Parts: sequence; C-alpha cells; structure tokens
Amino acid sequence: MTEQHAQTESRLDDPDDRSSNASVMPSFAKIVDRRYNRRHVLGAIGAGAVTAAVGGVGVAISGSGAKAAASSLGFTEVAHNVTPDMAVAPGYNAQVLIRWGDKVMDGAPDFDIGALTAESQAQQFGYNNDFIGYFPLPVGSQNSERALLVVNHEYTDRQLMFSGVKKGDDIDKDKVDVEMAAHGASVIEIRKAGGEWSVVHPSQYARRVALSRTDMEITGPAAGHDLLKTSTDPEGKVALGTLNNCAGGWTPWDTVLLAEENFNLYFGGDPSKLPQAADYARYGLKEKSRYSWWRHHDRFNVEKEPNEPNRFGWIVEFDPYDPNSKPKKRTAMGRFKHEGATTALAPDGRVVAYSGDDQRFDYLYKFVSTGRYNPRSRPANMDLLDDGTLYVARFNDDGTLDWLPLTFGQGPLTQENGFKSQAEVLIKTRQAADALGATPMDRPEDVEPNPVTGRVYVMLTNNTKRKADQVDEANPRGPNPFGHVVELLPPGDDGARDHAALKYEWNILLKGGDPANPEHKAEYHPDVSKNGWLVAPDNCSFDPQGRLWITTDQGSKWKNTGIADGVYACDLTGPGRALTKHFFRVPIGAEMCGPVFTPDGKTLFVAVQHPGADGAEPEQNFDNPMTRWPDFKDGMPPRPSVVAITKQNGGEIGS
Ligand code: FEO
Ligand code: CA
Ligand code: CA
Ligand code: CA
Repeated sequence: MTEQHAQTESRLDDPDDRSSNASVMPSFAKIVDRRYNRRHVLGAIGAGAVTAAVGGVGVAISGSGAKAAASSLGFTEVAHNVTPDMAVAPGYNAQVLIRWGDKVMDGAPDFDIGALTAESQAQQFGYNNDFIGYFPLPVGSQNSERALLVVNHEYTDRQLMFSGVKKGDDIDKDKVDVEMAAHGASVIEIRKAGGEWSVVHPSQYARRVALSRTDMEITGPAAGHDLLKTSTDPEGKVALGTLNNCAGGWTPWDTVLLAEENFNLYFGGDPSKLPQAADYARYGLKEKSRYSWWRHHDRFNVEKEPNEPNRFGWIVEFDPYDPNSKPKKRTAMGRFKHEGATTALAPDGRVVAYSGDDQRFDYLYKFVSTGRYNPRSRPANMDLLDDGTLYVARFNDDGTLDWLPLTFGQGPLTQENGFKSQAEVLIKTRQAADALGATPMDRPEDVEPNPVTGRVYVMLTNNTKRKADQVDEANPRGPNPFGHVVELLPPGDDGARDHAALKYEWNILLKGGDPANPEHKAEYHPDVSKNGWLVAPDNCSFDPQGRLWITTDQGSKWKNTGIADGVYACDLTGPGRALTKHFFRVPIGAEMCGPVFTPDGKTLFVAVQHPGADGAEPEQNFDNPMTRWPDFKDGMPPRPSVVAITKQNGGEIGS
C-alpha cells in the first residue's frame, strides 16, 4: 500500500481517525525541516552490530549479524493473513472465555439472538469488548488462577446485532435501548482449573455497568459546575452511566479506571445553535449523530439537554471487588477522548496516571496526585485521583519532553482567554492544552508505564492527515498511515524512574509498516520477519519480564495491507529490542484489544472486538457476515469475545 493511497482513502469507518484541532495547522508552518536536527534511533541501526545512544540511555543493539540469538521470545510466528478464524502461535491454546450475550449476572436469561431486549442485555456480556483488567482474588493477592475480569464494552455495530439493519440505518427505540444496555462494562469472576479458564456462577462479584442504569458520582474540581448541570441533575453531581469505554487501567489500590473516548458520536441536535458551539466543535460534536439514540432519549439531543456532552469524556473509577460501589467520574484527570489511563508511583508515593487523547493532532497527558499512596490502607487511597495536577506533553526536537501544567491562573489559562476557574480548565481540557502549545500527536492510544523498567510506551496509531510539512521529531512521517511507538524516559535508572518529573527524554522505538517496502519508511530491528511487521499500534501490555506486547487496530485498512490485526511482542532491552514477532491474529474485520497477563505470565487475555465489521461491504451484515466467529453457526452473527491464551505445556507465554 502506498502512502499516497492511504492518504486519499476515506477513513469514515474509524470514529477515532478524525481531527477537530483547528489550532494545529498554523503552528506547523514554523517547524518545517526541523526533522533533520536529530537522528532517529532506529535509523542508526544498519548492517552489523552497533551501539545506539537511545535517548541518553546506552543500549547495545545487534544488527543482522546476530540473527538467531536476537529475540528472547521463543515462539514460532503466526503468518500474516486475513481469515474467518483467529490464529495463535503453534504450541498455544486460544480459548473463547466469554462472548457478547453470555451470562454475566447469575439470573441472566440465555442469549436469544432473535429476541434481544434491553432487559436481558443489561444482565449479559455487552458488545465490542475492548479493555480487560485482571484483578486477582482475593484483593491484594497475586493469584493467577482466580480473579475478576473487568471488561469494557466500547460501542455497538447495529448492522451485526440486528437482522435487516444496515450500517447507518436509523433503528427503533427497542433496538436503541438494546444498544445502550450493550455499552458500559462487565465484571466477571473467573477461575482456571485443569488448564482451562471458565466464568464462575453464581458469583457475588458479578456486575454490569450499563449506560442507562448505573449512577456515577461526578467528583473533583469540576463537580457541580454550571456546565455539568442538566434537567435531571440540577446539582451537576450525578451522571447516568458511562459511554464509549475504550481502554482503561487500574490503580495501585486495585480499583479500575474506565476511559470515556468518542462520546461526541452519540449526540444529535445541532450544536452550532448553542452558546457552547465552539467548545463542542473542538470535541467533534456534529449535528448528524452516528446513533439513533437522540431521537428517543432527550439527553442525547443537545438542543434539549445542552450540557449532557460535558458529563462524558472523563475517567471513571470504581472498586470491582464491591459490586455496590458507586463509580466516580474523576474530573481532576481532565476531559478529552481518553483512550485509557494507566498508573505508576513516583518515588515519593504520588500517583501518576498517563492518558492519550485519541484523535489526530491531539495530545498526551499525565495526572500527578497531590496526596501519596498509602500501601497500608486501601480506604485511604480511594479518592487520591480527586486532587492533583494535570499536565500535557510538549515534545522537543532535541529528544526532551516538557510536561506543561493545566492549572488555572498560570500562563495563558486565565479569564481573558476564556477560563474562569480550574473547573473550566478541566471541562475544556483540549482548549487549555491548545493554549499551552502542546505537541499535536498521531493519535495517542495506549500510554503505559513498563512496571519492570519504568520507561513509558506511547502507541501512536496513525495519522493519514499529517502532511509532509507538518512532521516533527516525535511524529516524523507525513502522512503516517502505519503508526509508531514512542518510548518515554522519566529521569532515573531503569526500575527507579521518577514519573512525577516535569522533564523527560524520549525516542522512537519503532515505526510501523512493511520494512520490505521502502515507501513505508518503516523502522524496526533489522531482523523483523515478513510476518513480524505491524500496522496501527493501539493497546499494549507487559509480561512479567517487561517485554512489550502490542495489539493493533487498522480499521478497514486490512484491505490495503493484506494483514489482519493481532498481537506482536518484542524485547525492549538487549539485542532483541524492537524485533517484533507476530503471536496472534484476529478473525476478519476485528481489531485486537485488551491484552493483559496473569501475574505468573502463563495466561494472556485478549479482546477480539467487532469481528466481521471493519471493511465489510454494506451487504455483509447480520444476515450475510464476513465471518460467524466464534460460533460458526448458521443464523448467528459474529460475536465480540474475550480469549484466554495459554501455553500447551503450561509454561510462561513467550518463553
Ligand atoms: Fe477506541 Fe482509541 O480506540
Ligand atoms: Ca474500537
Ligand atoms: Ca483503542
Ligand atoms: Ca483504535
């Protein structure tokens, strides 16, 4: 696939792949040609063994001379292909653990694909599983065979849920209510016995967090602000449900963080008629809604309930070990299209949460708590995320990075510039970050600190709209249809890095695409095989050894690249750095989400999201899908599912 082709192809399939950052264009004029100021790390890897200075850290990198021994990952790669079924490396089992419609609540009715109701869906596993969090039982343990899984249900594909419905069709209220009940999150109890995982019933922990049913407290500096008040919540302190929960994370005190991402897509009515029109434009609200909800529920019609969109775009925290815990929207962590939120502890005990704003030309953030983590008292930590400082990243071309505070009254964040309080800075996080001069990125998806080294990895999924004269050192390709991975280095040595610091170093770990095609300008370890290259890094995880496992989401672009999405793993230190290997492949039309390991590294859970959806032709819908994975039964459409991967000999994944 050529870059020219990628640039001109429509990306309407992918709701993330748009920009509403009008401030980006002029700011690029002055940076043309700065790209030559600094060498790209992987560009330095040529023939033979070299030692490259990686963002100030000396890392020995072997070139093509050390082929056989380079990677510490022992598995045989899966072939690149696009097929109706999933595929995993030889010697591994991939077991479907739970599918859309399976029982979550003990009393849930059996899944009946011909008679979906909101009532049954609200007790069953929701649609489009994305984030997976693994919470060992009992709380605080390292149990790798009994746990709670928290799984996000990001969005719905009506053309694959209901017979006779095409993508983009309006649907009636009963179907809308099924869609709404299929959003949110599920908490399930799971157990491993005889090498197989199963969902436990009955379970005292089972829970569905559903959009129309679960009240959420709005907490932190923006709680109660006028911009959050609605007719049903005149105090601006309780939101009903959560929306478009993409990835997420967990805290050191074992609560879960759900990210609210593309909330704008659900609202109808004309936002340009409202006083907040400019603010809503920056968040991508449009008159035409992708969903039919606003026709049946006034709160999704901005002309009737103009502040409702301000009650989404937050990070939601709740305690998965208490099925009655009230989820909290943590406004101190900012409002944007959060891909996820992943935490680390600073040496002084402050909690740091990283989060990307997944849209073209949007930004990378971190939150640093004011209070300190108390390892002796779980209750003492429960509201740490309500008080702290939100920062946005400015990547400098000399390989350093500055974290700029989004603090009312500092720099441009003043009344004259439209910010009357810290609450407004947080509700209008994007506009505040624009004013600070943050670096517009190529769609930051997962941002995750490596628990072994403390280095932080940023998945930049792609940006087909970046032009050649808009590149910078951190986003060096224009257009960038294949994405790249940036490595951040908080100050300190591996294992003792300071996540609260305001100056980091950074470098590029890899650039996606096919290294055999010079037009892609891909960069990896030189020994990456014809099956080991990847496109569109989205989520990531680390095994107990601190190796990186990347999952991908090309949207409909698999039709151009000829490869499906999947799981790719690589070393981050030593001779196998950036030598990605292909471990798992999704069925046609799916993206790969949610990778998470058990503490012993012997199980990898992944989420197969929207099988049969991306790249489907209009007639490839419920009645005639591209795949019927995982059931492969006539009349049953494909079903988003969580898959548990184990090694057949019971060993560690990747060993
Ligand atoms: Fe929902 Fe950013 O992917
Ligand atoms: Ca998705
Ligand atoms: Ca994602
Ligand atoms: Ca994505």
